[in-house]
Amino acid sequence: MTQDELKALVARAALEHVVPGQLVGVGTGSTVNHFIAALAEIRDRIAGAVSSSVASTARLQALGIRVFDAAEVQRLPVYVDGADEIDGQGCMIKGGGAALTREKIVADLAERFVCIADESKRVAQLGRFPLPVEVIAMAAPQVARRFAALGAQATLRPGVLTDNGHPLLDVRGLAISDPLALETEINQWPGVVTVGIFARHRASVCLLGTAQGVQTLVF
Ligand code: A5P
Repeated sequence: MTQDELKALVARAALEHVVPGQLVGVGTGSTVNHFIAALAEIRDRIAGAVSSSVASTARLQALGIRVFDAAEVQRLPVYVDGADEIDGQGCMIKGGGAALTREKIVADLAERFVCIADESKRVAQLGRFPLPVEVIAMAAPQVARRFAALGAQATLRPGVLTDNGHPLLDVRGLAISDPLALETEINQWPGVVTVGIFARHRASVCLLGTAQGVQTLVF
């Protein structure tokens, strides 16, 4: 199977985690795009979706799925999203598609985070994928210096502003041996909007697409 077929496979498997009659939180990215297409087939059986990006909102609405503003919602039973990396504890790096802030906001509303990913995303330790960090523009050089002090290299993602109008740093060369501790530390730095480590909001379950089919990892 191709990587795209694996993404489609896990996206369809995620339908089993959608709670009938309820809202579902929807992430962003190429794997989630398959999930949105599958979700459209059961749109009459859900109350609607809470979206994590302008791009996902447009796709959901184009397929006739009602989208609710996160600010109107107190709780979601489930949030479905992809990842750039996921480790053995369900901690993730996210933000390759620049949607990390709204993804974390919607994930925070959810009781369960269902991660959908092809097996290339499974890692023993996070950090090979450059860590995305959304920042307030005036803080970007100082945040980059803080990463340099940790032995890492932070570069602005060229030509990209997030849906919130902020630039993104991509950080290479970080050793992420304790994802929760590093997420907590970076969150303290002035000007950091969101760090793309999802340890506090780690996956409850990961549906991993493999050549043998969908593997379910429970954390
Ligand atoms: C979006 O900002 C990201 O967090 C995505 O969830 C992540 O990059 C996975 O994307 P793909 O499903 O396209 O690999």
